[in-house]
Amino acid sequence: MAKSVVLITGSNGEIGHSLIERLHADGRYAVVSLDLTPAPSALREWCTASYTGNIMDRYLMDQIAAHHEIAAVFHLAALLSTRGERDPELAHQVNVEGTLNLLRVAQQQSARLGRPVKFLFPSSIAVYGLPDTGTKRKVGRIKEEEWNVPVTMYGCNKLYCEHLGRYFTHFHRQLGALANVARLDFRSLRFPGLISADTVPTGGTSDFGPEMLHSAAKGESYACFVGEDAQIPFMAMPDAVDALVQLLDADRDRLSTTVYNVGAFSVSASQIAARVKAAFPGAEISYAPDPVRSKIVDSWPEDVDDSAARRDWGWNPKYGVERAFDEYLVPSIRKRYAT
Ligand code: SER
Repeated sequence: MAKSVVLITGSNGEIGHSLIERLHADGRYAVVSLDLTPAPSALREWCTASYTGNIMDRYLMDQIAAHHEIAAVFHLAALLSTRGERDPELAHQVNVEGTLNLLRVAQQQSARLGRPVKFLFPSSIAVYGLPDTGTKRKVGRIKEEEWNVPVTMYGCNKLYCEHLGRYFTHFHRQLGALANVARLDFRSLRFPGLISADTVPTGGTSDFGPEMLHSAAKGESYACFVGEDAQIPFMAMPDAVDALVQLLDADRDRLSTTVYNVGAFSVSASQIAARVKAAFPGAEISYAPDPVRSKIVDSWPEDVDDSAARRDWGWNPKYGVERAFDEYLVPSIRKRYAT
């Protein structure tokens, strides 16, 4: 049987790296990758085709769609939350207009093939906005429909694109001659901060977690940009990739919503620091909180209620905090920087 073609945008990024590796190992998919910069040769080997270009480029997108019978899109390309605050207009262009361009291509492809192209979209805890740490502590685990008042451009962009995806799935061109053509099938995950043993994120505000760990492993000192008590949910990268693949494979009839929280563990900066120091006793970690980045982290929930994902498609993370550090992050990072 021919393999299903999967298009991955932002393919050189943190999630892209791990996802390509996973889909290659899975063997059911032919991966077409797209990123602003050329794919590193290790990733290119696992892809059927690799394109270098901008998701805003309509001509390039149409060309990719014409060359490949795309069954699913993982639209990972985005400017993260800190980067987005430095250039909000650019963040809007990339995160919203870029996503709209991909939705347009996936919709056209669905209409042309007569079946829904699946559209997997990583959203974020950044769509939430708690007004202060007192409220944050009081509300604890948050449900999808609560506190949808983001304080960053990135959070606004993700929240709006979730709505765009739901619109394209259920209501696109509801009036007129095209009302009955196949619509795309949008599925979104609200990820917590992600921690990978292989890569360090750039431009995010949950980056203090991974930065702390990778700095210690490299023997570098680290000044954390949030205070010791700053707490948000985190997830190990293998679980994040599992969640994406599970949601891709999930039976559409079982999905009661287009947007799902997914959680794994919730830790404060000082709890991460303690684990990092236990693994790397020489680690030098200090705190130099940046007021704006701290405020952003304080607006994100302490934890998420992911019961809908557990109920609808069997979400069940493999890595709690203990296993994440002891069995995945620390051993893999040690190996990584030893070579
Ligand atoms: N990790 C992202 C960021 O920090 C949040 O989704 O911007």
